[in-house]
Amino acid sequence: MNDVPKIRLQGVQKRFGPKVVLDGVDLEIPRGKSLVVIGGSGTGKSVMIKCVLGLMRPEKGSIQIDGEETVGLRGDARDRLMRKFGMLFQGAALFDSLRVWENVAFGLIQGRGMGRVQAKKLAQEKLGQVGLGAEVGELFPAELSGGMQKRVALARAIAAEPEIIFFDEPTTGLDPIMADVINDLIVHCVEQLGATTLSITHDMASARKIADRVAMIHKGKIIWTGPVEEVDRSGNPFVDQFIHGRAEGPIHMEVRRP
Ligand SMILES: Nc1ncnc2c1ncn2[C@@H]1O[C@H](COP(=O)(O)OP(=O)(O)O)[C@@H](O)[C@H]1O
Ligand SMILES: [Mg+2]
Repeated sequence: MNDVPKIRLQGVQKRFGPKVVLDGVDLEIPRGKSLVVIGGSGTGKSVMIKCVLGLMRPEKGSIQIDGEETVGLRGDARDRLMRKFGMLFQGAALFDSLRVWENVAFGLIQGRGMGRVQAKKLAQEKLGQVGLGAEVGELFPAELSGGMQKRVALARAIAAEPEIIFFDEPTTGLDPIMADVINDLIVHCVEQLGATTLSITHDMASARKIADRVAMIHKGKIIWTGPVEEVDRSGNPFVDQFIHGRAEGPIHMEVRRP
């Protein structure tokens, strides 16, 4: 059925000891759409993605993919689900000891048992899609600039042509021009795949470029959601403060004074 959301979170709660990080998160992403979750540092954005990926287990709530409950899935069922996912981790998170092409091909070889020769060919193709030549595939991550590392991480995220891609802070640490190049590549690659995406960022320029819809997380809850065109007239003081980067407003940063 086409009206079943690709991704649906309902009442997702995650705590660490006494600290409640996600306090009943509700989100829906239709098939082929791109949702960007914005919010300050430490508000639980990465934790939310880790819950959807199954790397962390929420205490309460439901996470459905294609209408199927995924909380608590294990073994073969979890493996099958993971094949739908591609992921670009915060800070690129490449394997230092593997060559670039091996990084891109990692999931193909380890996850799907593809032969090295075929996997290398595919990795080179994906590197081409993000504007890197085959010779870059022979280098190690430490030999690349930050922007190139992000491109490699993007090539890895799309290598297995996943139905769903998660982007965790894809532009953090890049200069604004390189960030824009990465945003354009994300939009292009996602369009080509027709993938559904869930991204998190605190970079509004990135959100404006890659989002169909934006949701804002604050204190463990989604406090606003709407089409990206409406983010400037949300009428929500939290959203306004965030997108204008103002210190004054309803969001109070916890600053510990000496
Ligand atoms: N494995 C963990 N154990 C304990 N606390 C954690 C763990 N992972 C994240 N946290 C806490 O959860 C909160 C949200 O973290 P995170 O989701 O990484 O924030 P961000 O929105 O910046 O991505 C932070 O206060 C962090 O310290
Ligand atoms: Mg994070």
